[in-house]
This record gives sequence, C-alpha cells and structure tokens, in this order.
Amino acid sequence: MRTIAIANHKGGVGKSTTAINLGAALARLGKKVLVIDIDAQGHTTVGLGVNTKDKQTIAELLCDDSTKPADVIQQTYIKGLDIIPSDLSLAIAEMKLASMHAKEFKLRNKLKGVKGYDVMLFDCPPTFGTLPMNVFSCAQEIILPLQLSYFSLEGVNNFVETINFINKDIGPIINHKISIGGVLITFFDTRTKLARDVHGRIKDIFGKKIYKTFIPQNIKLNEAQANGKAIFDYDPECKGALAYMSLAKEIIKKENA
Ligand SMILES: Nc1ncnc2c1ncn2[C@@H]1O[C@H](COP(=O)(O)OP(=O)(O)OP(=O)(O)O)[C@@H](O)[C@H]1O
Ligand SMILES: [Mg+2]
Repeated sequence: MRTIAIANHKGGVGKSTTAINLGAALARLGKKVLVIDIDAQGHTTVGLGVNTKDKQTIAELLCDDSTKPADVIQQTYIKGLDIIPSDLSLAIAEMKLASMHAKEFKLRNKLKGVKGYDVMLFDCPPTFGTLPMNVFSCAQEIILPLQLSYFSLEGVNNFVETINFINKDIGPIINHKISIGGVLITFFDTRTKLARDVHGRIKDIFGKKIYKTFIPQNIKLNEAQANGKAIFDYDPECKGALAYMSLAKEIIKKENA
C-alpha cells in the first residue's frame, strides 16, 4: 500500500483539490483509495459530497481509544474511493491531543491494521503542528503542491528541513522514513517571467522531483468542489480533469519504475 501525504504548510496551494481529484482519478484507474481528511476545514470531505452529521470522524479516531478505523471510514459516491472525513470537531480534538502521551503517533497506531487499499492519501492542514506530524509518522511519500509565485518559495526550505528533522530524530524511534515523492505545480497560468524564474528556483531545489504534469488554473475545479463532486463527474473534458488524470498516471508509473 502506498501512503501519500499531500502537504504544504502554506494555505490555499491546492492540497484539498489534489486530494479529491487525484483520489478520484486513481479510483477511476482501478485503485482502491482511502482519503484521510485531517484538516478541520473539512474541504476534502465536503468536496467529495460527504456528510459528517451524526457520524464519527478523524477527531474521534485520534482522541478516543475505543474508536476504530471501521467506525469512521465512509464510502464516497465514487466507486473505489473511501474517506475518513473531518469537520470542525477536529479543532477541539487537536487541543485535547496536545496533552496526550505520544500524540504524534496516534494516527499511525490506529491505521496500522487498515488493509484492502492500494493507496492512502492524506490531506494535511496548512500548519506544522501535531496533525501533520501524525501524518508524517504514517505516510511514506509527500506530494508538495506549489504555485509559481514569489511567496510560494517562502518556507520551502523550512518544509524540507522539517522532513529531514523527522527522518533524523523521530523516524528511528518508530522505524519510519518519509520522503518528498514529488512537487506538484498548481494554479499554473501562463509562463510569465516571474513564473519562469520561480520555476527555475524550484528546479534548483527539487530537480527531477517536479512532476511533469502541471495543474492549470481552472475555475471548473473550484466549481466541482462547491458541488461536492470530483472534477470527472462535473466536467470530465476540462483541462483540470485532464491534468489530474495525467498526474494519477504519472504517480502510478513512478511506483512501477
Ligand atoms: N487549479 C485550480 N484552479 C482554480 N481554482 C483552484 C485550483 N486548485 C484549487 N482551486 C481553488 O482554490 C481554493 C484553494 O484550494 P484548496 O482548498 O485545494 O487549497 P488548500 O491548499 O487545500 O488550502 P488550505 O491550505 O486552506 O487547506 C479552493 O477554493 C479551490 O477550489
Ligand atoms: Mg485544504
């Protein structure tokens, strides 16, 4: 099973949009996918049309010893795509977690026994706190979405340093290693000079780790999310849909390489 975190501490770079549409694309390609929404904003949950009313969520999975994965996993309307949903209750759960023993390893311990999926995709919140640390102690790969804007480079080094720190200081405790599987350019518009400069600098840092697929700026991706649908069920021919399908194929190919 591949375990992939979609992470960047920067907000609004396309993490949730990628979790929804990469998850849906992988499911369309025959993979059995579990998406784990670990952001109190619940954008991936809502974007896949999933309701958390009267349901247990990631919040209980993290904080209640008696809650098991089977209690929180929901099927989505997409065949082959399940989700551990999230909502605002995760904000309180995160506060509770803060005083718990081994708080960074709660998710890892809970997900240990989950079987039957080809891919787990984690949608991280835009922070560096306990929640992403829970993800980094489970996932083996990271997809790092980045926009080609000046500010997107801010903090990229911190991100890489954090991952190195985890591998050096935390990884050995649990016999775990995580690496940046790929850098995903999102909101790609036109090749302005600024975009070319930023791309050049990202290339200097990440080299071949940048995916060949760029995700274009495409309002349809935004609309699909607002309608609780993956892009393939909203506008399957739009350039956003084609890009996410291409990304899914590239990621599968990387695995087989
Ligand atoms: N390629 C795109 N083209 C147009 N709109 C997009 C694209 N990708 C994402 N969006 C929209 O931009 C907004 C931010 O995207 P998204 O929620 O995926 O980012 P995020 O990194 O998950 O944000 P956060 O850090 O708050 O969790 C959303 O409204 C989404 O619908
Ligand atoms: Mg998000």
